Amino acid sequence: YRNLRIALLGAGSVGSQVAALLLEHGDELAQRVGAGLELVGVAVRDPEKHRDSDIPFELFTTDAESLIVGADIVVEVMGGLSPARELITLAMTSGADVVTANKALLATHGPELFELAEQLGAQLYYEASVAAAIPIIRPLRESLAGDRIERIYGIVNGSTNYILDRMDADDLAAEDAQQIALELGYLEADPTLDVEGYDAAQKAAILASLAFHTTVPLESVHREGITNVTREQVRSAREAGFVVKLLAVCERLVDPTSGEEGVSVRVHPALVPRTHPLGAVHGGNNAVFLEAAAAGPLMFYGAGAGGLQTASAVLGDVVSAARRHVLGGPGVAESTHANLPVLPIAHVVTRY
Ligand code: NDP
Ligand code: HSE
Repeated sequence: YRNLRIALLGAGSVGSQVAALLLEHGDELAQRVGAGLELVGVAVRDPEKHRDSDIPFELFTTDAESLIVGADIVVEVMGGLSPARELITLAMTSGADVVTANKALLATHGPELFELAEQLGAQLYYEASVAAAIPIIRPLRESLAGDRIERIYGIVNGSTNYILDRMDADDLAAEDAQQIALELGYLEADPTLDVEGYDAAQKAAILASLAFHTTVPLESVHREGITNVTREQVRSAREAGFVVKLLAVCERLVDPTSGEEGVSVRVHPALVPRTHPLGAVHGGNNAVFLEAAAAGPLMFYGAGAGGLQTASAVLGDVVSAARRHVLGGPGVAESTHANLPVLPIAHVVTRY
């Protein structure tokens, strides 16, 4: 079998680790897949920044379009809406499968991209887009596809969990905890994406769409960040046996006014009993706790951010895409994501 050509878009925290893993473990992955995985190029804005990296310098390019044409698998880890959206579209129309970690893009333009993938017979993989290293997309798409998920409680933003955890464990003021999170590199370049709950809302929209087999538009997600949570509130919660967590809550509900069945998707600070498994999620970790009708409660826990951790999930998707090329078929068993109905959204907000 010929080598599969992998085009990498982005070589930042995640992309540099994806390239390193591909280059270091290429032989082992080739055995697993039944074909060589050849990194044919890495698109960045400024190749000079990467002159001292472990990626061979000749692989860098600023011409993402030329790199994409002829690739079998395109890995988009540049982030942002544009040009990521246009490049993913080009990749699929050029016959490639796509792996992305881009939650902002999927939460905003997911339906049209999934529809295009379906029209073209391409696959769009996105395990890394929610909770980084934690396998949660595939379990929702596959393992739980025959069950009925009733609700999800997720801690899906690592930096705000870190801030709240330090306020709780060390009685820090919010500004001090946020400053440490910033110094540790946990926050996005624009920290409002984390502390105002935008990042968690994007992930909640992706989770709810998958869990409830529907399309949850980002603007339907109620969003409240952690900027109004004070040290005094965290202290009071602790004294009462609770811990304050920024939760992404996705649940099936009957709207009290219309009586219609719908879904509620919301992100807000919430009081979690210290005895609940989510109460023990510390530092920058993430966890997704869900209740399914037949399976009962399940919890998925682990690193929700970090270049290497996220690269693990990206590589898993690359292997799925590569197997699909070698064996045919979808690579993962899955239901379609195109043309899904938009269920009514019931806005029910539980404040702490
Ligand atoms: P970074 O900002 O560290 O890296 C972005 C990379 O993309 C850089 O190499 C940059 O080039 C390149 N890039 C950006 N815009 C362009 C463009 N217009 N043309 C060409 N190259 C471009 O991002 P991360 O690695 O942290 O994140 C990547 C994606 O992964 C995002 O979607 C993010 O949400 C997602 N993600 C990240 C996680 C994390 O822990 N970091 C966790 C889960 C998901 P240059 O180097 O020249 O600046
Ligand atoms: N800023 C995000 C977080 C990165 O803190 O969880 C991972 O998506």
